[in-house]
Amino acid sequence: MKFAVCGSIATDHLMTYQGRFAESLVPEELHKISVSFLVDDLQVRRGGIAANVCFGMAKLGHRPLLVGAVGEDFASYRSWLERHGVVCEHVLVSEVRHTARFIVTTDEDMAQIASFYSGAMSEARNIELGPILDSVGGLDLVMISPDDPQAMLRHSEECRTRRLPFAADPSQQLNVMDGASIRRLVDGATYLVTNDYEAHLTERKTGWDAEEIQRRVRTRVITRGKDGCSVYSAGAEPVHVGAVTDVPRVDPTGVGDGFRAGFLSGLAWGLCHERSAQVGAVMASYVLETVGTQEYDMTRDDVLGRLRRTYGEEAAAEIEPHLGHDR
Ligand SMILES: Nc1ncnc2c1ncn2[C@@H]1O[C@H](COP(=O)(O)OP(=O)(O)OP(=O)(O)O)[C@@H](O)[C@H]1O
Ligand SMILES: [Mg+2]
Repeated sequence: MKFAVCGSIATDHLMTYQGRFAESLVPEELHKISVSFLVDDLQVRRGGIAANVCFGMAKLGHRPLLVGAVGEDFASYRSWLERHGVVCEHVLVSEVRHTARFIVTTDEDMAQIASFYSGAMSEARNIELGPILDSVGGLDLVMISPDDPQAMLRHSEECRTRRLPFAADPSQQLNVMDGASIRRLVDGATYLVTNDYEAHLTERKTGWDAEEIQRRVRTRVITRGKDGCSVYSAGAEPVHVGAVTDVPRVDPTGVGDGFRAGFLSGLAWGLCHERSAQVGAVMASYVLETVGTQEYDMTRDDVLGRLRRTYGEEAAAEIEPHLGHDR
């Protein structure tokens, strides 16, 4: 099956300052503030939700299409993704803006000064799915993840018009979108994926209760952190899947993306919702135990071990034939 993942593509620049910002700030002089901190550590991490999801799917052997907008500085990130099996040929490269970037400096009190440059991401609204669809000969599912809000609405509109199944993944963009936009984004989706906090926010902002949402989307997936996730489909019993809890909790950034990568992978293999969510939870566990969102690696045996330990022999046996061989 062919899946496209639309959404943000970004890098995080994380710096640490061995001192306290507070000591350099003079409250009476804040109107002419000009400070510079000499930092002694810089980590550059590849991220962006769509890129993280594609990376995870590629790790499981899929060839997902990444759809988003970047700058000319994308070259080395592109080769990293392509090396892992992500199809980047439909990524739009801006002629004037850089790839989105999150820059944060953390001091020894864990106080942070951060900036987010959305950059080329705003050009994602110029992406049309039609030509992509034509060039690959059809798509089985389009995931619409956090991106330029206008791009998200355009993609969902286009999916409805072209009768393309889509998964709405509004995540943090729920904060900036109004009720009408959220209703447009999710209406008619085959899947709506949120965490539990975002599920409540979706209901509050759209004015649609859980029942109304269920009428508008075929399947609703709600993730609940260490408590796993639930999958609700109209006319079927809810499915609850526990999390993989016997891994060290090192850095939770991107666990949601890891879950989505595994869940979509299961769907692409033709597995049921329960099995797909189990693959999602296993992928999330790899993200959780590593620093960064695309730094994990796994072996076939280890994936099977986690499935067996958490969900039993039957689950592992059903998923096993789909797992590729270690590279
Ligand atoms: N502490 C944890 N231990 C084990 N698994 C976890 C933990 N937190 C999250 N997960 C796994 O990741 C999945 C998604 O987690 P969560 O509901 O926290 O998503 P999220 O809030 O969207 O995360 P993100 O911070 O990436 O946006 C869960 O369903 C679970 O499988
Ligand atoms: Mg999330």
